[in-house]
Amino acid sequence: MITKENIRNISIIAHVDHGKSTLADRFLEIAGLVKPGEHESQILDSMDLERERGITIKSQPVSLEYQYEGSEYRLNIIDTPGHVDFSYEVSRALMACEGAILLVDGTQGVQAQTLAHSYEAIDLGLYIIPVINKIDSVNVDVDSVTEQIYDLIGSKKEEISLISAKTGNGVEELFKRVIKEISPNLSKNRALKALVFDSYFDSYKGVIASVRVFDGSIEANREYMLGNNKNSIYPTEVGIFDLGMKPISTLGPGEVGYIVTGSKDLTEFSVGETIVDRSANGGNIIEGFKSINPNVYSSIFPSDADEYVKLRDALDKYSLNDSSFFFEPESSSAFGFGFRCGFLGLLHMEIVVERLEREYDLSLIVTPPTVEVLLIRNNGQEILIKNPSIMSEYTDIGEIKERIAEVVVISPKKYLGNILKLLTESRGEQKDLSFLSSERVKIVYSVPLLELVSGFYDTLKSISQGFATFDYKIVAFKKADLVRVDLLVNGQEMDSFSSIVAKENSEAFGRTRVEKLSKLIPRQQFDIPIQAAIGSRIIARQTVKALRKDVTAKLYGGDVTRKKKLLESQKKGKKKMKKIGNVNIPKEVFQNFLKQDS
Ligand code: GTP
Repeated sequence: MITKENIRNISIIAHVDHGKSTLADRFLEIAGLVKPGEHESQILDSMDLERERGITIKSQPVSLEYQYEGSEYRLNIIDTPGHVDFSYEVSRALMACEGAILLVDGTQGVQAQTLAHSYEAIDLGLYIIPVINKIDSVNVDVDSVTEQIYDLIGSKKEEISLISAKTGNGVEELFKRVIKEISPNLSKNRALKALVFDSYFDSYKGVIASVRVFDGSIEANREYMLGNNKNSIYPTEVGIFDLGMKPISTLGPGEVGYIVTGSKDLTEFSVGETIVDRSANGGNIIEGFKSINPNVYSSIFPSDADEYVKLRDALDKYSLNDSSFFFEPESSSAFGFGFRCGFLGLLHMEIVVERLEREYDLSLIVTPPTVEVLLIRNNGQEILIKNPSIMSEYTDIGEIKERIAEVVVISPKKYLGNILKLLTESRGEQKDLSFLSSERVKIVYSVPLLELVSGFYDTLKSISQGFATFDYKIVAFKKADLVRVDLLVNGQEMDSFSSIVAKENSEAFGRTRVEKLSKLIPRQQFDIPIQAAIGSRIIARQTVKALRKDVTAKLYGGDVTRKKKLLESQKKGKKKMKKIGNVNIPKEVFQNFLKQDS
């Protein structure tokens, strides 16, 4: 039995690709949970998609046991997602820990997410062990990164561990540092207080929640309560994570583990929820709980209208597993029946769409991402709009507000000029600009979220040759001069492709949209006007010229069967097309339109 004094709960915080998952793999080997080379790398990245893309999407904890100076210790590592879309999960995962390894890639230095997560960890009072990784690499610059870490959290050179997560060099010493330096949280409070920092749906067992017990303990087959939503729960199993799940009788204070909740509803076990005794009476709740709301919205339609039901079933199933994903039915005059969907950010959106197509064998049309705006009617009523197409239902709008994000960009200074230009063009306002070293600069701007989802990240990457990194958090709603730009094909509005944009950019935006679309739409037997409009005012127009081509024209004579066959195969092809304003548009047009857009 490991006493609570010998439990260490840590997180590894790092910018994307700085080596978190690789370090976690080495830790697993040190604790003897896996043998070197025996497993696929990045064991904690459990989803196929995570491995393929090399990113961590879900936090996956693991418990390691280790003998140190004659005593047995348990080290719970909570690997966290590195991408900004999932930053709330990072913050909850950090709350479950007493300490954190701050891992900085020695070839890259401190980056935007290193900064964001370090500040978070400091705010939460975590003990931080600074580490420079990738010292085996020829490009490593230990001196400069040491200085950056000093500037960031004030650590001296001798406090920074130098490791190679890849070769294992320095990793065991780091492991021992964790045991020696991080103190367990030894509260004397006996009333139950446990934080849910992750949850997922298992089709056999129902909702399984990852929890950190601060005080008290959780056993199977006893009744507890959820602090925020007040529902009672009755866990059927509790346990810890070795590489899988290992049932134990009691999750005691200081432990990290799982509970099989017996519930079918993932939303009950939102990340950040507290589990308390039934008698808690509103007390003992961990502060700072928030329900996760989507930031980015887009509509999804089946490319073949016959697959609507299949799509609906897929969304029902998918959402069981992802409580941050939102969807509601939508009907579009151009695209038929589909769904309006909400995502945490662009990466989340990409992942959901890819998983729907891959795991549920669907072919989808996805509209350009947009954000919520707040309409304030003349009578003062506030309406949050998820879909630009319903804006026209309100004729008495006094004011429109949009979400503003605080953006932090870190970049080599030679790209500073271009980055400032991009931020200004994105309607940004400068908040701070400072040098992290003679070569690297940190830029803080407030920028409308709308601009961030409209290609900002890709442009930033390309103007800085991939060297600039960025992080953002949403701060406020602010009054804005916005308009809705519609796209029309042969006179018919592509309703779900309408966008909300800043008035000052709307004409240029309309022109580029029209130009893009007219290049993508295949020529047909008649002229097709492509237009952009604000209300009834056309702001841009191009024509896709007619192409006089009849598939049956080359069939001279009276070979009716061949002619029929040809028309039949053409009909099949058409099923996959959308008919807008009498124009048949292949699915690829919408996909490429979206691709170019981002
Ligand atoms: P996310 O899950 O996306 O946040 O990334 P991560 O921080 O988990 O990084 P990951 O462990 O996936 O490593 C990123 C890349 O760096 C991989 O290609 C690793 O093989 C490589 N890498 C990690 N550690 C080292 C190291 O010590 N030396 C070298 N040369 N490469 C390393």
